[in-house]
Amino acid sequence: MIDVYEYAKKNNLIDRSAIGDKKFRDFFKKMKINVAVEIGTYKGISSAYMAQFANSVYTFDIIDYFEKYKIWGDLEVLDKISYYTISKRAISKNFENIELDKKLKKIRIKNKLEKINLILHLLTEIILMKMLKQILNL
Ligand SMILES: C[S@@+](CC[C@H](N)C(=O)[O-])C[C@H]1O[C@@H](n2cnc3c(N)ncnc32)[C@H](O)[C@@H]1O
Repeated sequence: MIDVYEYAKKNNLIDRSAIGDKKFRDFFKKMKINVAVEIGTYKGISSAYMAQFANSVYTFDIIDYFEKYKIWGDLEVLDKISYYTISKRAISKNFENIELDKKLKKIRIKNKLEKINLILHLLTEIILMKMLKQILNL
């Protein structure tokens, strides 16, 4: 089995990837994951890394970088990863239907930046749940 991190270093895939972060690498070593979801595939090296510890990985990007297919083939994780190209427009359309007020009222928000982060976090969660439900036909 090829070491994904060593492969990333050898093929200059660390730049712009979470795989360069030791915390990211160690996080996945601690657990067995059923489904992992990634927003922002890029060249797919972090998807390949996660695929070692997950039964399946769903990954989304607005640009279909072709390099990832060879990388996933080399690392023998092609069958575990499902990739989808999404449009920014589709994401904003989902935003329109989301009611955040009730959730946000329950949470004490200390400053503006924290509020923005919280909103982004909630939106991401809701969108991911919607996408996953569609993908898994739930
Ligand atoms: C830093 S790279 C991701 C690196 C990858 N997750 C890794 O760790 O190897 C960021 C990626 O996010 C994608 N991206 C930017 N905006 C996006 C959006 N709204 N939805 C999905 N992907 C997006 C970009 O096209 C780019 O490929």
